[in-house]
Amino acid sequence: MRILVLTGAGVSADSGLATFRGVDGLWEGHAIEEVASPHGWRRNPRLVWRFYQLRRAALGGVEPNAAHRALAELERACAQHGVEFRLVTQNVDNLHERAGSQAVHMHGELEWLRCERCGTRVRDLERLDPEMFVPCAACGAERLRPDIVWFGELVPRSEELAQWAEKCTHFVAIGTSGLVYPAAGLIEIARSEGAHTIVQSLDEPANLRHVDAFRPGRACEAVPALCRELAALLP
Ligand code: APR
Repeated sequence: MRILVLTGAGVSADSGLATFRGVDGLWEGHAIEEVASPHGWRRNPRLVWRFYQLRRAALGGVEPNAAHRALAELERACAQHGVEFRLVTQNVDNLHERAGSQAVHMHGELEWLRCERCGTRVRDLERLDPEMFVPCAACGAERLRPDIVWFGELVPRSEELAQWAEKCTHFVAIGTSGLVYPAAGLIEIARSEGAHTIVQSLDEPANLRHVDAFRPGRACEAVPALCRELAALLP
């Protein structure tokens, strides 16, 4: 038994963090290419920096919810039973970690900043002024960028994640619209290799297929029950 979980913005919605494509979606008021693309960063770094500084600051005002905690509990149960458990998230918030999970962040992390000139990465949730860039302490570059994978940029470790999807026996997608690749392609790989595929989301994701077990509803309610069911299957 090898469990692979992929989460999206819906798992953090119940903690108060806006999703991207919901009615109050984060992208409202901002064209995606304006605030989440290398082009946007070059064209208007102040706008992009403000957008991310506000999201970074918001992390201090939210807590993990029951879905994050249930996933961390399932991870511990799998470790005790010697079952491989991997959590991959599209989210850039730190709520999985704060609930006790190890997560691979396909789209980067708000906690980290990166220097485009020398490659230095720093973990920082202290310098949050939306109007003040953070210079690179290593090379003196005037501003670090958010360590986020923007549209048009390569997702790190995507080959490795595809291999995890090939080998898993249970693939669980939680709170994702299934619209953005390569994340949205992982369930297709798992399905084609005969894994059990379980999808939990408020609305039907675009990549849902009839063979998937669909669990509609809010993650904070549906995920704890789902994790208990999976824990009961552990050998
Ligand atoms: N519980 C469960 N699911 C929820 C909840 C909730 N409380 N609220 C919303 N959802 C579901 C929605 O039905 C939707 O399917 O979460 C999903 C959110 O979809 P998106 O907003 O598109 O977020 P996500 O799928 O994570 O976006 C993928 O797109 O913009 C890029 O890089 C960004 O990582 C992001 C990627």
